[in-house]
Amino acid sequence: MNMRIALAGLGTTGAQVAEFLLEQAGISLVTAVVSKNSEKAGKDIGEILGGKSLGITAIGSENLSEAIRHYRPQVLIDFANPAFMREHIGLLAQAGVNLVIATTGHSTAEVERIKYYTQRHHIGTVLAPNITYGVNVLMELCKIAARLMGDYDFEIIESHHRHKKDAPSGTASRIAEKIAETIKATNDRMREFDIHSIRAGGIVGDHKVVICGPYDKIELRHEAFSRRAFAQGALWAAEFVAKHHGFHYMEDVFAKTLFGYKTDTCAHCGISLPEQRNMSLDYN
Ligand SMILES: NC(=O)c1ccc[n+]([C@@H]2O[C@H](COP(=O)([O-])OP(=O)(O)OC[C@H]3O[C@@H](n4cnc5c(N)ncnc54)[C@H](OP(=O)(O)O)[C@@H]3O)[C@@H](O)[C@H]2O)c1
Repeated sequence: MNMRIALAGLGTTGAQVAEFLLEQAGISLVTAVVSKNSEKAGKDIGEILGGKSLGITAIGSENLSEAIRHYRPQVLIDFANPAFMREHIGLLAQAGVNLVIATTGHSTAEVERIKYYTQRHHIGTVLAPNITYGVNVLMELCKIAARLMGDYDFEIIESHHRHKKDAPSGTASRIAEKIAETIKATNDRMREFDIHSIRAGGIVGDHKVVICGPYDKIELRHEAFSRRAFAQGALWAAEFVAKHHGFHYMEDVFAKTLFGYKTDTCAHCGISLPEQRNMSLDYN
């Protein structure tokens, strides 16, 4: 049985996520939610993406409640903006829709509210400012460095396209939190980090961590050069959250699936690494 997914946001990233989802076997993209006054509302998604009509309609967010009743999505992937979740989390949670929240720029209070509704209505939520596999591997490498090099200075430099609204990026903030937590746990020291943000041209996403001591330095860097990296991560998160209730971060998704390997088999679910990389999981 196909997993029914709704997408919020058909902007720069959302459009590529839609294209990616439409290519996947075992997935039905049932609708895409656009803003109330969007010229895309009521149009066919295939046509919005510049192709043939697919019989899948984009709906304005004012019709979300009706669309959920009609399309019954199991998961909604959010690439709209933080206001979308602020406005609709109650409705989505109450309707039992599991959530992959890839939007960035949520305040601490908003994250707490998302957790509250997740628990109250027993849905699954993945909060994923850091949605790509590569960035999650970068975070693991940063944690190793923080354990071994707690005395070094850590500086984070993130670069994105000139239209990105929030700074620093959600990913950079999450990397900083993880480094700080690891240094606190292993060296019992509190550390604050500078995050340097660059907004220029069409950069898709670039995160560099410079770890500098008096005599040497290490640089760890992840660069996304295709938004398909975000789409692949969103699909992994959707498949995870359809099966795991409660509130999760993206690193939990990888920790419980791909990073759980000791051999070529996942300690968590027993699926082989190559299979799991394709994430051809069964959602029945
Ligand atoms: N987690 C990650 O790794 C990752 C990666 C890339 C992007 N992001 C995040 O994803 C979000 C979108 O990024 P983007 O580059 O695609 O931005 P974008 O090009 O500005 O697209 C956002 C889209 O959201 C739509 N929108 C606005 N309000 C809405 C509402 N109330 N309901 C439904 N749709 C609404 C807008 O389209 P209409 O007005 O036509 O509806 C707009 O096209 C940002 O928060 C960004 O930081 C996260």
